[in-house]
Amino acid sequence: MSLEKEITLRALGAEIIRTPTEAPSESEESNIGVAKRLQKLIPGGVILDQYNNPANPDAHEFGTGPEIIEAIENTPSTTSRLSSGKVDVLFAGAGTGGTITGISRAIKRHHPNSIVVGIDPKGSLIARPEELNKLDGESASYVVEGIGYDFIPGVLSHDQVDQWVKTDDNEAWAAARKLMRTEGLLVGGSSGSVLAGALRWLTTEEGMMSAGGVEGKNAVIILPDGIRNYMSKPWFAELARGDGQSELAKQIAELLKKP
Ligand SMILES: Cc1ncc(COP(=O)(O)O)c(C=O)c1O
Repeated sequence: MSLEKEITLRALGAEIIRTPTEAPSESEESNIGVAKRLQKLIPGGVILDQYNNPANPDAHEFGTGPEIIEAIENTPSTTSRLSSGKVDVLFAGAGTGGTITGISRAIKRHHPNSIVVGIDPKGSLIARPEELNKLDGESASYVVEGIGYDFIPGVLSHDQVDQWVKTDDNEAWAAARKLMRTEGLLVGGSSGSVLAGALRWLTTEEGMMSAGGVEGKNAVIILPDGIRNYMSKPWFAELARGDGQSELAKQIAELLKKP
């Protein structure tokens, strides 16, 4: 968890216990393990449990999902910008899975043919429950926060996700940078993962047939988080600086040389 998230929670009056990221979720040392221990030790302790609490996907089924549908329906189709009037494909990452499960329920109820594509970092087991008890040979670890887990959260309904795309950190940072530079959207790493996965899927044969190459189709990409939560992360400093001297920096250096 980033320093920014920790100090924001502290400002709100919370106490934060740091746990090792690499601790398996079922171990006593993990974030979940420590929370369970504290629940027993603190009189009246409760765990709101975003991993199993049905209020998590419900908030997206009855909040985020209808909001997206309304936005699409209220954006008229014009000759210069055609619209099918519905969500043709939805792309979202999965951490608890509440977002993708809830939005999927809402949009598929509205249009059963909507396609839902989940984005999962390489090294996470969320996309493949059948691999849970096996070593899958994919030892990639990831730095991106908020998506991916080493267990399947109870609120994630795999039935609601039609396909999964696996992504790595580098393509996530590159896509986040592109969003910043071209759209002015200062997003976090998981947003970059979702965009990278979405762009890859849209250029597959199935993606091209269903939305990527068809005018008027609406592809909705969920960008869950802003960069302010990650300003102190080394990956952001690298991403912001870029890899070498920019054209603008060269131009400025030339201009300043002139008498
Ligand atoms: C930054 C970020 N991205 C993505 C997600 C994934 O959302 P969900 O837990 O609903 O799957 C989260 C969840 O907390 C998050 O913090």
